Amino acid sequence: MSFASVLVLNGPNLNLLGTREPAIYGSETLDDVAKLCRDAGERLGLSVDFCQSNAEHQLIDWLHAARTKVDGIVINPAAYTHTSVAIADALSAIGKPVVEVHISNVHRREAFRHHSYVSAVADAIIVGCGTQGYVFALERMATILKNRAAK
Ligand code: DQA
Repeated sequence: MSFASVLVLNGPNLNLLGTREPAIYGSETLDDVAKLCRDAGERLGLSVDFCQSNAEHQLIDWLHAARTKVDGIVINPAAYTHTSVAIADALSAIGKPVVEVHISNVHRREAFRHHSYVSAVADAIIVGCGTQGYVFALERMATILKNRAAK
């Protein structure tokens, strides 16, 4: 039984996980990450919807649709993290709790990865924990949603 629903959204190039720069992103595929999230969701009492797109407008459309459907958003915006005011605006507009995840430690990488437009609208940020970061993000989201429900 789930007490809340969470959309886990993944941005561009994350469909290539497993083959894409494995020294940085590891060898697990996006399907492996989806399973990790569904298993964590079951354990935490969250129903998890898991999506990926390479298109900014698709991510934004899913966020708009989530406004009336889900309780929280876990998002790895990938490269759009560093470029997209539009995704940050969509997250603000829908007014749901947000946990931002990055598989790699973006702060140990190129300077252009150090700034995130999404972080300013996120309740929590998890970086550099590999794909386990998604599990941490869902754990944090479960706590945020339980705390809100208790108020
Ligand atoms: C990423 C980090 C981003 O800088 C990069 O563009 C990605 C993945 C991560 O999960 O580590 O595509 O969000």
